[in-house]
Parts: sequence; structure tokens; C-alpha cells
Amino acid sequence: MLAGVILVTGATGAIGGNVLRLLAGGEHPVRALSRTPSSVPTLSGVEAVQGDFTDPDSLRRALDGVSAVLLVTVPNPPTVAHDVALLDAAVSAGVRRVVKLSAIGTGEWWNGQLVGSWHQETEDAVRGSGLDWTVLRPSTFASNTLGWARSIAVDGVVPDPVGGARQGVIDPRDVAGVAVAELVGDHSLGRTLTLTGPELISAADQAEVLGRLLGRTLRVEDLPLPAMRGRMEEDGWDSTAMELAVAGTGWARSGGNAVLTRTVEEVLGRPAATFEKWAVDHLSRFGG
Ligand SMILES: NC(=O)c1ccc[n+]([C@@H]2O[C@H](COP(=O)([O-])OP(=O)(O)OC[C@H]3O[C@@H](n4cnc5c(N)ncnc54)[C@H](OP(=O)(O)O)[C@@H]3O)[C@@H](O)[C@H]2O)c1
Repeated sequence: MLAGVILVTGATGAIGGNVLRLLAGGEHPVRALSRTPSSVPTLSGVEAVQGDFTDPDSLRRALDGVSAVLLVTVPNPPTVAHDVALLDAAVSAGVRRVVKLSAIGTGEWWNGQLVGSWHQETEDAVRGSGLDWTVLRPSTFASNTLGWARSIAVDGVVPDPVGGARQGVIDPRDVAGVAVAELVGDHSLGRTLTLTGPELISAADQAEVLGRLLGRTLRVEDLPLPAMRGRMEEDGWDSTAMELAVAGTGWARSGGNAVLTRTVEEVLGRPAATFEKWAVDHLSRFGG
């Protein structure tokens, strides 16, 4: 088992936050990087530090004495230079191990576009860094459905950008569990792991679960790609990030993400959690 401080980037996010919770109170001191450390939850053995991928000095400070890093690539806008800056600082600081959060579909093609092109570039940088590495490519997160909470509350509608396609929806806590195993465990490193939940499910399947648990009938509405792009523009998305997200969604919409693996079970020694399990645990976020 690796000893030393673990640095968690994206510590206020879906995966980084769950990695903190899993490591808290354990034998590894943990440092949680955020641009606003006051937003990092207070947890035993977790020190929140101020840091920004655009500020090399902050990365140097955060990496002092660190043995392993969880690298969460910022999604909006995705910036390859962020990850390269972190990797350079990690090598200089004598870090031994990096676990990079990537995404399923990276390196696939859709409509003439490379899916996850920025993940592809940073995966390659991780592999060439000289550090021990693991790349995690999770499927779509169960927690993405939190984005439906408002329209479910207002009119019971679930917008479906993937047009009925089925995906191996994964509980972010399982992604975090695998990340922790790779950060501190004795695995054969140098692996690219595709992580999925235990079942292929559509937005309609997820709406059925949420509706049943909430005691309501929810209506699924297809959200074609041009309409999705329009909503993202209204929400002020960076244009590059938007086109990359549209390409990934188009790939999923075409059935590309109908993929299941058993990697979570192989690493954690128990089956991956179902969407229903995640929904039960988070029902209050939907007004349940
Ligand atoms: N959502 C999915 O279904 C899915 C599936 C597969 C893979 N992924 C991948 O998972 C990754 C995380 O995506 P997410 O949507 O779940 O986001 P997230 O991790 O929930 O949030 C983004 C994180 O980035 C940090 N951040 C933003 N700008 C930063 C900067 N300049 N310097 C340092 N930290 C910065 C934020 O921290 P502060 O604001 O605290 O600084 C925040 O913790 C992405 O690479 C995405 O491609 C997502």
C-alpha cells in the first residue's frame, strides 16, 4: 500500500467529493484542492487547500509531500493545459502515482468528431508522465439526473438528450471507490479501466424508478441535439465545451454507450450499485 499524502483535485465535485468521504478518517492524510476551500466539507483527516489549475504556485504548494493525486479534468471549459500543469508540478514534487478521471467513449468517433478529445490528450500526457498511472473511464453518472430535479418538480418532465438510448449508468460513489483503490492500493498500475453500472438503462427507465419512488408519473420528452445545444447556450456554456458535450451525447444517442463492464465488481469485490440504489439514497434532492 502506498504511504503519504493524497491530493484530491475536483474536491468539491461529484467524484472528488466522494473520494474525500471514502478516505476521511483513514490512514492517509488527505489534501483537498479547491479554488474556494471553504466549500470543501469538513471531514476528519482532510485538509482543504486553495488551488487553481491556472496558478502553478498554488499547485506547487498543494503538492508538497504528496505521494498520489486524483486528477479531475475540469469539464467546462475542458483545458488540456490544466492537466499538463498539474502533471508537471507533480513530477517536480516527487509524486509517485496519478489516477486520472476520464470518460467512457474517449477515442471513439461520432459524426467526424473525436469523442472526448481533451480527455484523449490528457490521458496521453498521464501515460507519458513517468508517474505510475491509472486512467478511469466511467460511464454516465447517476447524479446527472439531479439536473432533472427542477423540471420534475415543475411539470413532471424528464428531458432525454440521448433519445431512448440505453447506457451503463454508474453511481459516482462506485467511481470514487475504484479511484481510492487505485490511489492507495497495490494494483498493477498502467491500466485504463472502463467503469459502468450493472445494467443498461434508458432515461425512461430512470424516470420510471424516480416516479415510482416519488409516487408520481413522470413524462419523458426527447431533447434532440439542436435543442440541447440551445439550452446550453442559454445557460452560458463555453462554446468548445458545448460542442464536445454535444459530440459525446451524439455518440451515446447513436447507441455507442450501450456498454457494460464488470470492472467495479472486480476492483471493489461487490457488484456495482444500481440506479435505484442511488435514487433511494438521494430522493430528498427530488423533493421526495
Ligand atoms: N457527468 C458525467 O456523467 C461524467 C461521466 C464520465 C466522466 N465525467 C468526467 O468527470 C469529470 C468531472 O465532471 P463533473 O461534471 O462531474 O464536474 P465536477 O467534478 O462535479 O466539478 C468540477 C470540479 O472542477 C473544479 N475546478 C473547476 N475549475 C477549476 C480550476 N481552474 N482549478 C482547480 N479546480 C477547478 C471544481 O472545483 P472548485 O470549484 O471547488 O474549484 C469542481 O470540483 C469531467 O472530466 C467529466 O468529463 C463525467
